[in-house]
Amino acid sequence: MVRLSMALMALVGACNPQPEVPVSGRGLYDGYCVKCHGTLGQGDGRLAAELPVAPADLTMLRENNGGVFPYEAVMAQIYGYPGRHHLGLMPQFGPVLEGEQIDWVSPSGQVVSTPRALVELVDYLEVIQQ
Ligand code: HEC
Repeated sequence: MVRLSMALMALVGACNPQPEVPVSGRGLYDGYCVKCHGTLGQGDGRLAAELPVAPADLTMLRENNGGVFPYEAVMAQIYGYPGRHHLGLMPQFGPVLEGEQIDWVSPSGQVVSTPRALVELVDYLEVIQQ
């Protein structure tokens, strides 16, 4: 019995992300996004072929927005607002990204309290733009 409950505690511990472990945008991407958007973000994940609308090529977000990375729109889409096609194909990631909030300064200079994980993830997407 003692052994079982210790095993359970270890399991629960493994499922709870430790707050002192820094959140990495790349790690979040690999965990939540790769299966649809693909390893390099080009929309060719293993589930892509099964979806009625192709997952977006995430390396083209800046290019598709006239050369400006659309931070707010990208954050909104990931958080859970309906996508361009309004089919609800992409899951809402708001709940899984909750946690520590930080003050994020938008390109227009507004300070917005935002989950750190969401900021890290979107910063990573900005890095992979073509
Ligand atoms: C189940 C498959 C699936 C998963 C998982 C998924 N997406 Fe998507 N995503 C889609 C599809 C399909 C679209 C395009 C349809 C739409 O816009 O509604 C899309 C669109 C987007 C867009 C909008 C792009 C544009 O040009 O407007 C962004 C940004 C995005 N995804 C980011 C992410 C991120 C980041 C993750 C991981 C946290 C993720 N997606 C996980 C399927 C998925």
